[in-house]
Amino acid sequence: MAQITMLGTGLIGRFYTQTLHGQRSRDRVQVVYSRTEERARSFAQEWGIPTWTADMAAAIRDPQTDAVVIGLPNHLHEQAVQLCAEAGKAVLCTKPLGRTAAEAKRMLDAVEKAGVFHGYLEDLAYTPKTLKALQSIQNGALGRVLWARSRETHSGPHSEWFWDKAQSGGGALVDMGCHCIEVSRNFIGKDVRPLEVMCWGATQVHPIEAEDSTIGLVRYASGAIGQFEASWAFRGGMDLRDEITGTAGTLWLNHWQRTGHEMFTAVGEGGYVAEKAEGATGWIFPVGDEIGTLGYLEMFTDMLDALEAGRKPMEDFYDGYVVNAIMDAAYRSIESKRWEPVDLADWRGSAEAGAGVQLTEFDADHYLIKRETMPDGRTRLILKEKAGGKIVQRVID
Ligand SMILES: NC(=O)c1ccc[n+]([C@@H]2O[C@H](COP(=O)([O-])OP(=O)(O)OC[C@H]3O[C@@H](n4cnc5c(N)ncnc54)[C@H](O)[C@@H]3O)[C@@H](O)[C@H]2O)c1
Repeated sequence: MAQITMLGTGLIGRFYTQTLHGQRSRDRVQVVYSRTEERARSFAQEWGIPTWTADMAAAIRDPQTDAVVIGLPNHLHEQAVQLCAEAGKAVLCTKPLGRTAAEAKRMLDAVEKAGVFHGYLEDLAYTPKTLKALQSIQNGALGRVLWARSRETHSGPHSEWFWDKAQSGGGALVDMGCHCIEVSRNFIGKDVRPLEVMCWGATQVHPIEAEDSTIGLVRYASGAIGQFEASWAFRGGMDLRDEITGTAGTLWLNHWQRTGHEMFTAVGEGGYVAEKAEGATGWIFPVGDEIGTLGYLEMFTDMLDALEAGRKPMEDFYDGYVVNAIMDAAYRSIESKRWEPVDLADWRGSAEAGAGVQLTEFDADHYLIKRETMPDGRTRLILKEKAGGKIVQRVID
């Protein structure tokens, strides 16, 4: 049973509290911090939280709680983490960890120096579909992962601070690209070093300084490519999809829309349909269990189990730091229009390079490239001669 301090009473503070208090849970938010006393009180009353305050440091230091959950705008993450480290409190921070890798590294150093438990709240690594897919990949069902594409797009965030680069650290890339990068990293293998990034980003629609759309490629030491696509300019709700291609298989995940719950209503039912839904009438895609579908349930279960057991959670501040380092390289690439190296002064994964192309033996003289049954029923073999490397074709009746 965990007693939590919740920092922030916005969208994510609400989702997190709903998760922590959900399903007759024994975990409780005991203390809530918001900018104003009035907002803190009304949130506390809504969720049955005994203590509320507009003093962040007091909320963190409150002896009633074992862990602090940070659900504040990006520019406040570092300050909150430093206060947690000083107070010797376990800390779980939402995404992105920092606005830059330098900020994220200072946070990582602070918690490690203080010896406090740290978790990176990357919920999309924990959706039921993602966890099942990760298991299949770890069981070898896809062979060697070659390409992991992850997409999160919608029509833009719900609060002003996201749109202000100084507070947020950037646009769609830092806000949602961080999810996609970490999801791809999980599929490719977190032990595999990200080497370089090629990224496009632009302000296509909104009158802001930051990018509202971005697409990028991350090249990994295994030879795999992580592809991220994030946009605040996409119409039609929230599009959350992943595709993973390996040498022995393919996986497609669709997390949010057209997942089997589709409804037509000419009149609507007066309100919220699902996060970032753009309409409440016509064909709509309601989501029955938003916090489960988005991974919050499994995420907090892992985090709080890990805290109790004294083990590392699946996602911690080191992962947040790696994601920020990849995003820093992506921002440099947007400017330079070239591949930019991922600057990871502190790399803790494998030093191995990729396996490269693996040859499949066909016979004493050939490697097999491809086998296909054609419409006429015959099988065609594409082979490579071991001596000389010539590509040849054979047809079997
Ligand atoms: N899937 C996810 O993991 C997910 C989803 C949404 C948001 N987030 C993250 O959660 C954090 C908060 O986002 P949100 O959507 O809840 O934002 P929000 O705007 O809905 O809520 C932010 C909260 O911080 C408070 N706040 C704003 N400016 C402040 C300031 N200067 N000082 C103190 N408090 C301030 C607001 O009053 C509110 O309580 C961000 O880091 C965001 O990236 C994560």
